Amino acid sequence: MAYYYPEPSHTFSEYLLIPGYTSENCIPDRVSLRTPLVKYRKGMEEPAISLNVPLTSAVMQSVSNDTLAIALAKEGGISFIYGSQSIENQAAMVAKVKGYKAGFVTSASNLTPEATLADVLDMKKKNGFSTVAITEDGTATGKLLGIVTSRDYRVSRMDPSDKVRDFMTPREKLITAPKETTLKQANDIIWEHKLNSLPIVDDDDHLMYFVFRKDYASHKENPLELLDSKKRYLVGAGINTRDYATRIPALLEAGADVLVIDSSEGYTCWQKNTIQWVRDHYGDTVKIGAGNVVDKDGFRFLAEAGADFVKVGIGGGSICITRETKGIGRGQATALIEVAAARDQYFRETGIYVPICSDGGIVHDYHMTLALAMGADFLMLGRYFARFDESPTNKVMVNGAYMKEYWGEGSNRARNWQRYDLGGSTKLSFEEGVDSYVTYAGPLHDNVEASLYKVKSTMCNVGVTNIPDLQRDAKLTLVSSVSIVEGGAHDVTLRSTSTVK
Ligand code: IMP
Repeated sequence: MAYYYPEPSHTFSEYLLIPGYTSENCIPDRVSLRTPLVKYRKGMEEPAISLNVPLTSAVMQSVSNDTLAIALAKEGGISFIYGSQSIENQAAMVAKVKGYKAGFVTSASNLTPEATLADVLDMKKKNGFSTVAITEDGTATGKLLGIVTSRDYRVSRMDPSDKVRDFMTPREKLITAPKETTLKQANDIIWEHKLNSLPIVDDDDHLMYFVFRKDYASHKENPLELLDSKKRYLVGAGINTRDYATRIPALLEAGADVLVIDSSEGYTCWQKNTIQWVRDHYGDTVKIGAGNVVDKDGFRFLAEAGADFVKVGIGGGSICITRETKGIGRGQATALIEVAAARDQYFRETGIYVPICSDGGIVHDYHMTLALAMGADFLMLGRYFARFDESPTNKVMVNGAYMKEYWGEGSNRARNWQRYDLGGSTKLSFEEGVDSYVTYAGPLHDNVEASLYKVKSTMCNVGVTNIPDLQRDAKLTLVSSVSIVEGGAHDVTLRSTSTVK
């Protein structure tokens, strides 16, 4: 006879936290959200990689590209660049994140001296930048011959056909800096000479980057940014259980700091084989997470297979229709609670702490706090990040409101069938995800700051100032459907509507 779980499975919205004692030391500014990303001998050593905030972005085409990865690393989290693209393209995205120097910007507007004022105006209109690099071949890395800013021309007095070479600020009048220049030195030069931008050039006088006056300040605003020993942003990458022998070396060569097997269901021999291949070729130097699982058996299997972290969640993603198409999955809260207990049990037995990631289904900011309280070491979010400026998808106007596109990896649009691959050669595929819109929400920084401030405030209500204490001390209660109604505004007529996230 089949096994029947005695309890129904629950999700985040069915739980609430009960406040604990809050002392005067327990204020949001004192809360640390630092958390381990990969397994370690807790109490004996520090994890090889920790996050400064417990957020990771989903391994999805519509979420995690290089732009989002840089924005999230600035906040202290990490992105996993999607694997449902060619190995070359994925490696190039990873390389872009690793090559990114905070404050050093590759020139976006470039022309040759033979271009005209009309070309300059055209370019300014198209991409909004007023600094145009003038290089020998008109590329961002050509030999630097001058720059044009709005100080160099007067549209009312000049002819649109005037040549750039006749009105640009020429190379000999430019103040530049060599490639070794640090951001701090560049900033000093900018201040000393009252510049708006400083071109950084290589030994052959080819343009490498611009440092802009405004960027130094923004760099200083990111005290939690997640950097490697060479001060480059950390970045992860998704892999699959088919082409790992060629994909992994390319991703590591590009600089990936951590890998994750991206699959809807991880309790499989394919995941074990993939982890084994990594251990055979790289020992413990390469970090690899696995998943997804929703119970203790799945967790133990992957922990014993050598996973560096385990992702939890099947069917809870906002774009996911796995439960409807296949009838598998589990309420995210129940899955998380069981897997967290299995992780702690595994730690007691082996001394090895394997972090777990709650993947999918975070709708409200308070769900983040609940997931952490239920034992998640960090979270993976798709819909949340898809709404921001930095996500890779188009911003479109739908019914008078700005939206961003967001589609599942199992949708016809992404066609990431490998994620749902269960071996064999049959190529029959069916959709497990939808193509959708999400409400546009602006810059990642502002949103993450607001969400995490809420998380920290709630942690203070619980009376804790770090995630391990939250996991140990939180008191949670299931709520009845009637008390959920009580939790919203009720029995009043609202004067204005706002959506609380
Ligand atoms: P969200 O944060 O609720 O939007 O969920 C994101 C998570 O959904 C991802 O990290 C994946 O685990 C999962 N996911 C992504 N694409 C699909 C899909 O097409 N079908 C089912 N689950 C998906």
